[in-house]
Amino acid sequence: MSDRTQEKVAEERLVDPVEQHPKFHRLESRIALAGHPIHAMLVAFPIALTVCVLGADAFYWWTGDVFWARAGLWAAGMAFLFGVLAGLTGTVELLSVPGIRQRAASWTHFIIAVMLLSILGMNWGYRLLGFEQAVLPYGIMISAFAVVFTGFTGWHGGKLVFEYQIGVSSSGSS
Ligand code: HEM
Repeated sequence: MSDRTQEKVAEERLVDPVEQHPKFHRLESRIALAGHPIHAMLVAFPIALTVCVLGADAFYWWTGDVFWARAGLWAAGMAFLFGVLAGLTGTVELLSVPGIRQRAASWTHFIIAVMLLSILGMNWGYRLLGFEQAVLPYGIMISAFAVVFTGFTGWHGGKLVFEYQIGVSSSGSS
């Protein structure tokens, strides 16, 4: 038998025990409205609000207008609270759908997302101690870091959907 054929035979014999699980391909969202995952609908809010905090901080730095510091406080609070809400829906999805639970990538997303939530919480909590003094220099630095980390988390969430087809419906073609 040639090396190539031997390699092929060995590959065919390899069995991934996780993939053998009867529910491995059960990936459809359960936390959904008419089949559309609620998590995917909610994540837009913390993502957009986190970018708004950085924008408000930049405008405060530029203009010195206290309005922007207050806007940053509110945006940071809402980013955190909507992030927690999105995280809760994602977590219930992760725990209740067997195919999602069995994929390592889902747990990676969970860990990255919980780290993000702690950064969003810090950004809000720090401002609660004095929202105007908080902006420069540390508030804006936390905001910039939060935007980068949100991008990373969102990109990874997209990977779950677009690469692993997690949460997608397999029932309809029209
Ligand atoms: C804390 C726990 C979280 C868990 C367990 C979780 C889990 C999931 C799951 C299972 C999906 C696949 C789609 C679905 O079934 O709904 C997903 C997608 C996604 N997640 Fe999360 N997630 C969490 C938090 C977050 C947070 C905080 C963000 C961003 C702020 C985020 C951003 C995304 C994005 C952008 C997608 C792709 C949505 C799409 O394009 O349709 N996730 N997540």
